[in-house]
Amino acid sequence: MKVVAIVGSIRKDSYNLKLAQFIQKRYQEQFDLEILNIRELPFYDQDIEMDPPAAVKDFKNKVAGADAVLWVTPEYNATVPGVLVNAIDWLSRVEKVMNGKPSWIVGASMGNLGTVKAQLHLREILFAMGLSSPLLPGNEVYVGAVHEKINEAGELTHEPTVQFLDTVVDNFINWMKQQNR
Ligand code: FNR
Repeated sequence: MKVVAIVGSIRKDSYNLKLAQFIQKRYQEQFDLEILNIRELPFYDQDIEMDPPAAVKDFKNKVAGADAVLWVTPEYNATVPGVLVNAIDWLSRVEKVMNGKPSWIVGASMGNLGTVKAQLHLREILFAMGLSSPLLPGNEVYVGAVHEKINEAGELTHEPTVQFLDTVVDNFINWMKQQNR
């Protein structure tokens, strides 16, 4: 199974990027995870959406070719970071590549609530796209105080979180089978 991860932080030391890389490595037997680059995406612009820059075409093609999308989001000012909304805006137009595409969400922040508000808003945004893109029900992964749970090497060292992730990934795989994927 091919999954693409869209990470809502473009900084090089991003905890969310590290979380995506941890998932990529730990569950490599269950699915192939490619972490997409959204840093090169320009601001969404309706004037160029019919013939967008190569970075946009490449990004949309990769999402189109995947069996599922994993959203990995930080929380900025109690909501979804602008870079992630920008990426979603590109995905939502012209070739609607999220149409029917299953997805699931994880998120990490330094605050104790671990992206609760960002994920609530992200769920609303995905729902609003209205493209019958099914979202894994339940299985809400909020990694709070992430700076205390990931070590220098980028490994998730907080065992209860790792065990919870194991369960969520099992649920995701079973749910994907129900979606005939
Ligand atoms: C934050 N941070 C943050 N954390 C949180 O739990 N709730 C919030 O509303 C915010 N707001 C916020 C706004 C902005 C502009 C920044 C830069 C940061 C802190 C955030 O959790 C922390 O910087 C994470 O490390 C960001 O994720 P990455 O970049 O490490 O993946």
